[in-house]
This record gives sequence, C-alpha cells and structure tokens, in this order.
Amino acid sequence: MDRRLGRGNSSRTKERWTAMTVMVELTEVRKLYNGGSPQAALDGVSLTIQQGEFTAVMGPSGSGKSTLLNLIAGLDRPSQGRVLVEGVDVGRLSETELARFRRARIGFIFQFFNLLNNLTVLDNILIPAQLAAVNSGVALDRATALMNELGLAEKQKLFPGRLSGGERQRVAIARALINRPLLLLADEPIGALDSRAGDQVMERLTELNLRGQTILLVTHDAKLAAAYASRVITLSDGRVADDSRLKASPEVAPSDILQLRPGETAP
Ligand SMILES: Nc1ncnc2c1ncn2[C@@H]1O[C@H](COP(=O)(O)OP(=O)(O)OP(=O)(O)O)[C@@H](O)[C@H]1O
Ligand SMILES: [Mg+2]
Repeated sequence: MDRRLGRGNSSRTKERWTAMTVMVELTEVRKLYNGGSPQAALDGVSLTIQQGEFTAVMGPSGSGKSTLLNLIAGLDRPSQGRVLVEGVDVGRLSETELARFRRARIGFIFQFFNLLNNLTVLDNILIPAQLAAVNSGVALDRATALMNELGLAEKQKLFPGRLSGGERQRVAIARALINRPLLLLADEPIGALDSRAGDQVMERLTELNLRGQTILLVTHDAKLAAAYASRVITLSDGRVADDSRLKASPEVAPSDILQLRPGETAP
C-alpha cells in the first residue's frame, strides 16, 4: 500500500501537516555509561519536538548533546525514562527492529562525513537504500533527484577524495535523506568545514526544513543556531538549561522529495 502523502497541494494535506504532530518525545531520560563517569550523561531530560521544527542543540563539551542525538537515533538506549520517535518507544525495540527503524525513519549526518572513499558519490548515496532493499530503479531516481537538489549531479562519478569538504558534507546529507527519513539528525555537521562551505550546508538544511523536514542539529556556534534554527535547546551537565523558540516553524507540507512515510522502503 502506498501510504505517501501527496504533493501537499490540497488544503486537506496542508491541514494535516500544519496541525502539531509530535515527532520526538523524551520523558525523564537518564543515561549512565557503564565504565563512564558516575555522573549521568543525560540526567532527567524531558522534551518534545514537533514535526517541522528546526532545533539547534547547544551546550558545552560533555553536556550530553551527542548522547541525546544517539538516544533519539536508537544508536544507544536510555538507562531510565522513555524516548518516543513518532510514537515508537525506541528503547524497547530489539536490535533488528532498531536497525529497521533507523533505516526507515532516521537520517544521521556525522561531523566527519563518514563517506566510503572507495565508492563514488552516487554509490555512497545509494548505500542506505540498498540496505533497506529499496528497488534499485527507485533508489537511483531518488539519488539523482537529491544530487540535483544539492548541486552534486556533476560529481556523481567522482570519489570523495576529489571533493571539497562542503561537497562531501552534501553527499552525506544526500545519503542521510535517500530513505526519506522523518527526522534528520546532524551532530556538528559543519564543524570540519570553512565558513563558506558551512553556510552552503546550512542553506541546504534550511531549504529542507522549509519543505517540512524535521531537523535536530548539534552545534557549538550560537550565531549559526540563531541564524538558522527555529528553536534552541541548551544542555548543561546532562540537563536542559534553556529551551527557546526563536521563530515559527514553516507551515508547509513536505514536497515530493521528502515524502515522509517510511512504509514504501520496506521490502
Ligand atoms: N561511550 C561512552 N562511554 C562512557 N562515557 C561516555 C560515552 N559517551 C559519552 N560519555 C560521557 O557522557 C558525557 C556526555 O558526552 P557527549 O558525547 O554526549 O557530550 P557532548 O555534549 O556531545 O560533547 P562534545 O561537544 O564534546 O561533543 C561526557 O561526560 C562523556 O564523557
Ligand atoms: Mg558531541
């Protein structure tokens, strides 16, 4: 069954997306690492993220930012409390269910790209679709659309070693989006880039958000957060020290490149 939403032109579809939809809900989440410090990496975090929000997560080194993203992505499990992503209790999934959940719903952009250097741009972008057993023709169409969107079409046969840092990070964004995740998580995605390349990547993320993509971005850069995010959550010693809304989230339906239902990716 095709559960995708349409292009968002009908007022009914638009109403669906403008209604507040909870994407992520953390309730009293604590995370203690075995063998780590006795102080909790996250120490009673409760927060809700709505669909379509562009949230920056800030805070000093060691305050729990990456831990928060990893728990939401199901890369790690909470020691206490509950992490729901679109209503799914991530901490209760089996390893197999978690892997499927991540492939279908989460796009993760890492600080240092994590591209495979012996694969071309196109093949790097296709990996998650292959892992999710997406039909190869469908995957190629999506990869082509993403490369066009992200200004990578002319680079598709190159290997990452021949790309600039900004181009590599755009490949990483395309790879994170190919399975059309509901949620895009980015942990310091432009930390390794110069300011111009960083700005370009941020502009791309903003365009995605304007079309309805929910984004959670870890950054050390307060100016960047203020310029691009609609909300800034500040962590301190594993707790939420501040949570400020800067501007309204875009009231638009996701366009076809980001049809956000994961159903079609299942084999
Ligand atoms: N795998 C781990 N094992 C043990 N302790 C860990 C592990 N991962 C994180 N921690 C600890 O949890 C705390 C929070 O770490 P986290 O990586 O979430 O911080 P951060 O805010 O992302 O910092 P940074 O800005 O430096 O990336 C730190 O004290 C860290 O040492
Ligand atoms: Mg970190």
